[in-house]
Amino acid sequence: MIGGAALAASSALEGCFPAYREAKEKLKTLSEGDVKLTRQLVGKNPAERVVLFEGADKLENPAVELKKASGETQKFSADYAPFTDDNSLRHQYQATLTGLKEEETYEYRLLTKGGEGEWLKFKAPSKDKLVALIFPDSQSADYSCWEKVAQKAYKENNDANLYVNMGDLVDNGEDHTQWEAWFRALRGIEEHIPLAPVLGNHECYDNNWEVRLPNAYINYFPTPDNGSENFKRYYYSFDMGPCHFMVLSTEWDETKDFKEGLLEEEQAWLKNDANASQKPWKVVLMHRDVLQYRIHNRPERKEGISDAGSHFMPIFDELNIDIVFTAHLHTYRNRGVIKNMDRAQRGPYYILTGVAGDVRYPNLWIDHALDIKIAPQPETDNFLVMRADAKTVNIKCYKDDGVLIDDVTINK
Ligand SMILES: [Fe+2]
Repeated sequence: MIGGAALAASSALEGCFPAYREAKEKLKTLSEGDVKLTRQLVGKNPAERVVLFEGADKLENPAVELKKASGETQKFSADYAPFTDDNSLRHQYQATLTGLKEEETYEYRLLTKGGEGEWLKFKAPSKDKLVALIFPDSQSADYSCWEKVAQKAYKENNDANLYVNMGDLVDNGEDHTQWEAWFRALRGIEEHIPLAPVLGNHECYDNNWEVRLPNAYINYFPTPDNGSENFKRYYYSFDMGPCHFMVLSTEWDETKDFKEGLLEEEQAWLKNDANASQKPWKVVLMHRDVLQYRIHNRPERKEGISDAGSHFMPIFDELNIDIVFTAHLHTYRNRGVIKNMDRAQRGPYYILTGVAGDVRYPNLWIDHALDIKIAPQPETDNFLVMRADAKTVNIKCYKDDGVLIDDVTINK
């Protein structure tokens, strides 16, 4: 899109220089019909981020132009990364922006042969501070709930550096209409701050509700390389602000009939990855919760530690993980510090993040002895805001109407 001043200048020149007019005619403002679903994804570190977009058809010479505050521009070519799922061919493109400097404000736009998108702003985060929006499961029949909670969170925290979705982004991982609805709910957010996605079990369902590999999720989200041959993009880590985030996949049961070894591979990777980080805060994001709850009318189900908890809590203790965010149960529960699978003074701090879609489980769970704060019942949607510096992490949990549910401060 050409700005007002530039447009006025070009009008004056047009009659005098036919060659200039010819060049101008080649420029076209890209519309929703040309490119759609422009969005950002976290890179390995704050100097990188990935820009993704889709063409209605295959695009010629796709690129992303980055403009610094000084006005200097740099062009990054966009790779064609198409995929077909649910009989829907997605003409997806991805460009990795590199060399971003902390706290610098940038603009970027999409370029194709003869076309240019509108300039979109973002600010690279500081290395000392971080604001993260954390959203629980958003799987829905109608994604207007997801839109409401996401837009509310960003409107009230527009200094956020990134947003996280804790898995079960969509109800059915093959249904391309749900993915489109999920992305469209994030307009005004996804173009400006990067997403850190977490794989959930619902990403592993096909249209017949049979388990499959999470084809759409893996293609939509080219997350930082984890060095794995078999489970690339299933789990990953990244740095932002004073935090090192380790994003696990808890879907080893869903994947084992197709590919074996996810759990064992991740356990080994996590030890290396956490120990290699010097960041003040080590934060784990994982979909399935670490605790097991009793359920009304099912007396055989006992309170305790879940399968995911048994596999990972001892490792979190060993690695001095600071905070563990979980999901899957669609209820907000703050458990405080747990070590050796019991209440402790020092150790990982556990938060079960709640629900951010229209699938809710009223009166299902019987409270766990390790719960110290529970969202008001029956629950509505909620979101979390994590603000971190080198010494302190503050986590606030809000209902979708903005009412504060919980306020946690963790000091080093
Ligand atoms: Fe789930």
